Amino acid sequence: MIHYAGMTDAQGCFDSVVDNDQYYPVKKISNESSYQMGNNWWMEAIVYQIYPMSFYDSDGNGIGDLRGILQKLDYLKNLGVTVLWLCPIYQSPLADNGYDISDYYQIAQQFGTLEDMCELIAQADHRGMKIILDLITNYCSDEHAWFQRALKEPECKEAGYFYFRESTKGAPNNWRSIFGGSVWEAVGDGRYYYHTFGKKQPDLNWENLELRSEIYKMANWWLKKGIAGFRVDAITFIKKDTMFQNHYPTLDNGLYPIERLTNYPGIDVFLTEFKNEVFKEFDCMTVAEAPGVPNEQIADYCGQDGYFSMIFEFSYADMNRYYPEWSVDEFKRRIFESQLSSQKGGWLGIFLENHDQPRSPSKYIKPEDLEAFGDYPKTMLATLYFLLRGTPFIFQGQEIGMENYPFSRLDDFRDIMAIQCHQESVENGGSVSGALETLKHTARDNGRTPMQWDGSPNAGFSTITPWISVNPDYLHRNVRAQELNEESVQNFYKKLIALRKNDGTKDLFVYGDIQPIESDDGMFVYLRTYAEKRVVVVCNFSDHEHMIDLPFAAGGILISNYGLPKLDGAKLICPPYLAIALADKVY
Ligand code: GLC
Repeated sequence: MIHYAGMTDAQGCFDSVVDNDQYYPVKKISNESSYQMGNNWWMEAIVYQIYPMSFYDSDGNGIGDLRGILQKLDYLKNLGVTVLWLCPIYQSPLADNGYDISDYYQIAQQFGTLEDMCELIAQADHRGMKIILDLITNYCSDEHAWFQRALKEPECKEAGYFYFRESTKGAPNNWRSIFGGSVWEAVGDGRYYYHTFGKKQPDLNWENLELRSEIYKMANWWLKKGIAGFRVDAITFIKKDTMFQNHYPTLDNGLYPIERLTNYPGIDVFLTEFKNEVFKEFDCMTVAEAPGVPNEQIADYCGQDGYFSMIFEFSYADMNRYYPEWSVDEFKRRIFESQLSSQKGGWLGIFLENHDQPRSPSKYIKPEDLEAFGDYPKTMLATLYFLLRGTPFIFQGQEIGMENYPFSRLDDFRDIMAIQCHQESVENGGSVSGALETLKHTARDNGRTPMQWDGSPNAGFSTITPWISVNPDYLHRNVRAQELNEESVQNFYKKLIALRKNDGTKDLFVYGDIQPIESDDGMFVYLRTYAEKRVVVVCNFSDHEHMIDLPFAAGGILISNYGLPKLDGAKLICPPYLAIALADKVY
């Protein structure tokens, strides 16, 4: 049976966890697929990413929760978004803020209950919005019952769900985990277990058929609760080189970065099976966090027969203006390259921010330009990515132009990655202040400070001091203030969203082709075309004026952050941080 994902099945939702759901045996590894790249609903989606811990605290304990999201559904509907992606809300010791799951079938008590989750699905549905959840399958928590049993009984079935290796000479190899230090952790009985990220996140052994069946059963269970799909976490790590041999150390501390071993050969077999055992049965949306997928493989991941509906491509996101390779031109080159590759076969989730990134205005725009040019750089960035080909994602707070937190002490950071990487850098001889300076610009906590709802204490997020500090700029940068200002960043986002939904322009921006237009350094220009319709998107990603030749005589302005365009014959005069979309006619 094909389930319609997103359909609220209140009955299904309240099924008990021990409902003896059919166990989903892994039948066979096959390559069959029924996916077609037609006009899928998720191509028209506008996704809003919620980091529940920092969205809205309904019960005054300083941590956001599901009932907090429920209270803000009308805000989200009014913004115009159609899909909500919730970062993990499952039971967890929250060592990595929920990406360390101790029970896949329960909600963390800090976030609420399964009933709250079901109500959220139903209430979102009532407002025409769907919910997708984070699906975390590369690792679980060391507090998960499987791992606890595996620790106590080395011969038990669950021990096979993890990668344990014996060693008498220290860590079994020299690979470095993403949060710093070895990927191996000793358990005290001669065994070590493998973790790609934190040591409280033991990796799950996808080579183990029973483990895979457990994962598929769990994912199917959630889809049957009425969610519309998943953001599929860290999926390019699931296939390992199980020889676990040393690699030539490329880091000063003699380690080899595990990031280089993503998308390992053989992963296609697991991903095909995952699709066949779970996603294929549902009209669901899946967006894979897929670092390490080269442009040539985008079609395998998310083309007509791809494993997922879409992927996040990171080549352009893993760089900011503090990196040596940064330039607007390089940023543009990387974005256009992945756009053109996905256009040959594939579909991208397009984004500038998420919970693992600093805020985009701080990431890409010089502080003096943010000061001098007001909101123009922010509305330019918004236009630049929102009108590309793919499904746009907005991270909470991005729509009001939130900026990085002014970190000045290590104590202000909450992210395990920030704390461990700082420690590692100092242990390797780096200065404390140098490591702190790097963190200020790169730390994920920049994107995790509480949502700024209004100018009241704690930005209206909570009645008590929140788990992570509120950005002091909330007094002037908040939802309430922007709702009252027709010219705000938030209202600009609403206009961009409307362009992807309105009858006259939806086909162009959702289903149209993209063609980059060569332009000066600092200019970011592309064409979107659909049948006879044409629109040119012009963004000036610089602090000075440029002139460009328009590819056709403009007949209508679809959006502009500077009002009417200034033309000099067939040339468009582009003031600093201009963003404009000009169509050949009025649509
Ligand atoms: C994913 C998540 C990130 C998390 C990591 C390890 O990349 O996006 O937030 O820290 O997995 O759990």
